[in-house]
Amino acid sequence: MLFDFETLAPQDCYKLVVSSVVPRPIAWVVSQDAQGHVNAAPYSFFNAFSDNPVVVGFGAGPRPEGALKDTAANIRETGEFVVNLVPESAVQGMNVTAIDFPAGVDELAEAGLTKAPSAKVKPPRIAESPVALECVTFQLVPAGRHTIVLGRVVAVHIKDDCVLDVAKCYVDTPKLGLVGRMHGRGWYTRTTDRFEVPRLSVAEWEAKKAAE
Ligand SMILES: Cc1cc2nc3c(=O)[nH]c(=O)nc-3n(C[C@H](O)[C@H](O)[C@H](O)COP(=O)(O)O)c2cc1C
Repeated sequence: MLFDFETLAPQDCYKLVVSSVVPRPIAWVVSQDAQGHVNAAPYSFFNAFSDNPVVVGFGAGPRPEGALKDTAANIRETGEFVVNLVPESAVQGMNVTAIDFPAGVDELAEAGLTKAPSAKVKPPRIAESPVALECVTFQLVPAGRHTIVLGRVVAVHIKDDCVLDVAKCYVDTPKLGLVGRMHGRGWYTRTTDRFEVPRLSVAEWEAKKAAE
């Protein structure tokens, strides 16, 4: 079935994309306004795009009345934010922070979550998250009603017992227990169903073909 995104209604394009581009990692973004009010919300139009500099990005849609969501407004104002990744143990708390509270409400306090200080940016990180990326704005890219927020990562916190080897920067990724967003509203996936496919060199590929 072909769906033509140049003629389909935007809400239909949205449904098709969020139902098929899965699983998506979730950026649980903490930001602050200029007065220091802390804000947190999840964004699953999210990924990492480069390694030098490390740039991550997420897409923030508008509020129903068209204004910027608080996360995007804060980042436009202050240029700093923290992307926390979401472990299964914190999914319920994350869901509370997605409630459409008015600006100025501290979603982390509402959800009973713990703020931990960041090292290089003002917004705190979420102590219940095993990975927190401290970011400064790299670029804000308008995309229709969305604002794509690109952040340069200036530091990452990884939970101590999830670091296998500090010198080699080896992380025990399964132990992070992260979840991803699936189709539709309210569906998630665990990252426990893994399998390995070793990468092949040209020589290995040729040898494999010759053996078949
Ligand atoms: C798992 C999850 C993922 C979400 N992803 C997005 C997203 O990618 N873009 C977006 O605009 N809203 C997304 N939302 C909705 C926002 O979290 C919600 O609108 C929130 O109230 C925005 O808060 P803020 O105004 O404090 O930034 C998501 C919600 C959930 C539960």
